[in-house]
Amino acid sequence: MKNKKSKVIFITGASSGIGREVAIKLAKEGYKVFAGVRRKIDKNEIESLNNNIIGVYVDVTNQSSIDKAFWFIIKHTDKIDVLINNAGIVVAGPVEFLCIKKLKEQFDVNTFGAVAVAQKFLPFLKNGLIINISSMASTGIFPFISAYCASKRALDILFNSLLLENKDNIKVVSVKPAAICTPIWKKSVDMTKELFSELNENDLIKYEKEMNYLERNALENNMKGIDSSYVVNTIVKIINSKNPKLSYNVGFLSYLADFVSRLPLVFVNYLVKFKLNKINR
Ligand SMILES: NC(=O)c1ccc[n+]([C@@H]2O[C@H](COP(=O)([O-])OP(=O)(O)OC[C@H]3O[C@@H](n4cnc5c(N)ncnc54)[C@H](OP(=O)(O)O)[C@@H]3O)[C@@H](O)[C@H]2O)c1
Repeated sequence: MKNKKSKVIFITGASSGIGREVAIKLAKEGYKVFAGVRRKIDKNEIESLNNNIIGVYVDVTNQSSIDKAFWFIIKHTDKIDVLINNAGIVVAGPVEFLCIKKLKEQFDVNTFGAVAVAQKFLPFLKNGLIINISSMASTGIFPFISAYCASKRALDILFNSLLLENKDNIKVVSVKPAAICTPIWKKSVDMTKELFSELNENDLIKYEKEMNYLERNALENNMKGIDSSYVVNTIVKIINSKNPKLSYNVGFLSYLADFVSRLPLVFVNYLVKFKLNKINR
């Protein structure tokens, strides 16, 4: 087992929110952290926080960007111990009006991007660990963010398969946080507003109450979601564990969603529909 100082971590989406906090915490603990960012300003900022952090440009939806990140990292190290697939976005809206381009983008970032990064780095991850920042949404029980739910469920399925298939003793762990107070919710509201601005008046009215509720809820998550330190501490625990579990819920609502999703779907749908009817009153 390597000591902390020689362990190398690569995390995507480290410019803000959970990724940023994880990078800082792990660097403080003595790990060498390659922090994935997309802008120069973010690279400069995160590198200025700790000498153990090296910013790496990576857009997970762009194969040539992943390739460049790979070559950059292997100039500094011959092995990655932990890959943290954290980059993510939330595409919201009713399936009826979900723009297919945005639906694809949801999967491009949250699912295909994570697979593409893992594929590139697998040869350097022998006996290592992949931590995916999934979500309680992977239970699939939340309407109006079903694109996000589906992208996270697909992420978990693909990586569980990778865990079973790989011959290099690579462990895979899924972290499923409840709502965390990060910029992702405000970004999602802005994106949804932009998408809905393209709808005609009649279509706009159809789901107005639900979308207003969703917006209020998202903005509340932005302020009242649980602190990202809960996710950070879970990740530190996983990295320090010899035999981590396959999946970790973070926050009470994540456990609750897990429990509810195991009930018969007809009952789950009854509960969700009850809530939706209340919103519509
Ligand atoms: N916040 C929550 O309530 C919550 C709950 C469960 C799970 N999660 C998951 O946690 C992860 C981190 O989210 P967060 O809440 O910390 O949100 P955040 O602050 O918005 O962070 C998202 C990160 O992903 C990056 N990103 C987005 N698109 C990318 C792309 N194409 N290539 C590379 N990086 C990209 C962003 O970079 P830019 O700054 O360049 O856009 C940013 O660094 C996500 O996977 C999210 O689904 C969040």
